[in-house]
Amino acid sequence: MPMNGTNIKRVLIAITGASGAIYGVRLLEILNAKPDVETHVIVSKAAGLTLSAECDRNVAEVEALADVVHLVGNIGAAPASGSFSLNAMIIAPCSIKTASNIAYGNTADLITRTADVMLKEHRKLIVAVRETPLHAGHLETLQRLVGLGAVIFPPMPAFYHKPTSINEIISQSCMRMLDQIGINSDEVPRWGETSGIAAVGPKSIFVDET
Ligand SMILES: Cc1cc2nc3c(=O)[nH]c(=O)nc-3n(C[C@H](O)[C@H](O)[C@H](O)COP(=O)(O)O)c2cc1C
Repeated sequence: MPMNGTNIKRVLIAITGASGAIYGVRLLEILNAKPDVETHVIVSKAAGLTLSAECDRNVAEVEALADVVHLVGNIGAAPASGSFSLNAMIIAPCSIKTASNIAYGNTADLITRTADVMLKEHRKLIVAVRETPLHAGHLETLQRLVGLGAVIFPPMPAFYHKPTSINEIISQSCMRMLDQIGINSDEVPRWGETSGIAAVGPKSIFVDET
C-alpha cells in the first residue's frame, strides 16, 4: 500500500462541520498508536464550531494529534497534488456541503481539492457523511460519489458488539472505516471472531432452512 518508498502509510483525516467531530478525533487517536502510519489532518472552519460544541476541544488540540497539519485554505499544500503520495483520505464526519462540492467538482478548499485528487488518482476516499433525513438531492450526491469511486460510509452504529458506552459505538465505526483502507485496529470485538479481544457471536448456531 505505501507509495512513498517506505513502509509508512500516509493517511489524511479531514474533519468537516457535520455533527460527529468525535469520529475524526477518534480516528486520529487510533492512528496515533500506529508507528507505520503518518497522519495528516485538515479541519474545516465549521468543524471548529462542532469540535468546541460537541467535544469541548479546540482546533489546535485536535491538530496536535496529527503528524502533519494542513490549513483548509491552503490550496497549494502537498495533498492538493496527485504527485504527493497520499495512501488514503477519510472525511469524518463529512457534511452534505463538502460531499456535494466533491461530487460536483467544486474544489475551492483543500479538503474538496484533496478528495478530488484521491478520486482522479483512484486512491481510497472514505466519506463518512452525516445527515438525516436525506432528501433526493443528498441521495443523488452520494450516488454520484460512489460512481466516482468514493466509499460512502455513514457512521451508523452497530449493536452486535453490545456497546456499553458512546465511546465503544464511535470506536466500532472508526474501526470499520479503517478496515476500508487496510488498517487493522481491533478497537471493539468483531462479529464471529474467536481470537484477539473478547469475541462476539450468536449464542447458538442459527441455520436458515428456508
Ligand atoms: C452544531 C452543528 C451541527 C451540524 N450538523 C450537520 C450535519 O450533521 N450534517 C451536515 O451536513 N451539516 C451539519 N451542519 C452544518 C455545516 O456545518 C454547514 O453546512 C457547513 O457550512 C459545512 O461546512 P464544511 O463542510 O466546510 O465543514 C452542522 C452545523 C452545526 C453548527
